[in-house]
Amino acid sequence: MRKKIVAGNWKMNTTVAEGIELAKAVVAKSADVPCDVTLIVGTPFTHLCPVAEALKGSKVELSAENCADKEKGAYTGEVSAAMVASTGASWTILGHSERRQYYGETDEKLVEKTKLALANGLGVIFCVGENLDEREAGKHFDVVTDQTKAVLYNFTAEDMAKVVIAYEPVWAIGTGKTATAEQAEEIHACIRKVVADKFGAQVAEDMTILYGGSCKPSNAKEIFAQPDIDGGLIGGAALKAEDFIAIAMSY
Ligand code: PGA
Repeated sequence: MRKKIVAGNWKMNTTVAEGIELAKAVVAKSADVPCDVTLIVGTPFTHLCPVAEALKGSKVELSAENCADKEKGAYTGEVSAAMVASTGASWTILGHSERRQYYGETDEKLVEKTKLALANGLGVIFCVGENLDEREAGKHFDVVTDQTKAVLYNFTAEDMAKVVIAYEPVWAIGTGKTATAEQAEEIHACIRKVVADKFGAQVAEDMTILYGGSCKPSNAKEIFAQPDIDGGLIGGAALKAEDFIAIAMSY
């Protein structure tokens, strides 16, 4: 069964106190969301413990935005998958384009991060997406195919049950420019085929594939109506509980 998911990616926003308040506001409104939609909030590392506490007893799940590519040891400033799991978080986002672009996240590192996340019981929201130049050059299908294969083809069909893919065209992130529902759908269908080619039709059918990039209450309904789009990874609009919940109610 393919899960519907609406996940917030808070990025480097909110203080701890503001984050707790936002999480509580999401919980307060979460009863309005249909029960077949999984809600996840993705927060900075510093917020995971107190937000886990704020989410206790609710249907809202918790995600980190990253984890280290090493298990433990002398890696100053890094946060391991085991540490993330010990906060009560059950997910981590990996391979977000901002991490690929600004922090040198390579496919090789992402394979290690994914391995460690899965080994520590975390679900992985794995991000792919082309930039504007690649889209304009007509390379978007190839870029997304390569990104998906380079990391996920190192895993098993069983592992895929704990992986969600998020298609986030870089030109649509935080820009107010959303991919059209058709543009998103054709890439989602392509990703599903890439998954099917390696792991089989059933794994592909069950794979949740999210859209991300300027998703908001006004466009979520049309995007989520596409057959291969199973929810969203929400940045800016996840910083307002009202908007985040309105998006989740767009199913
Ligand atoms: P946005 O970000 O919704 O602010 O465009 C999405 C994301 O980067 O996950």
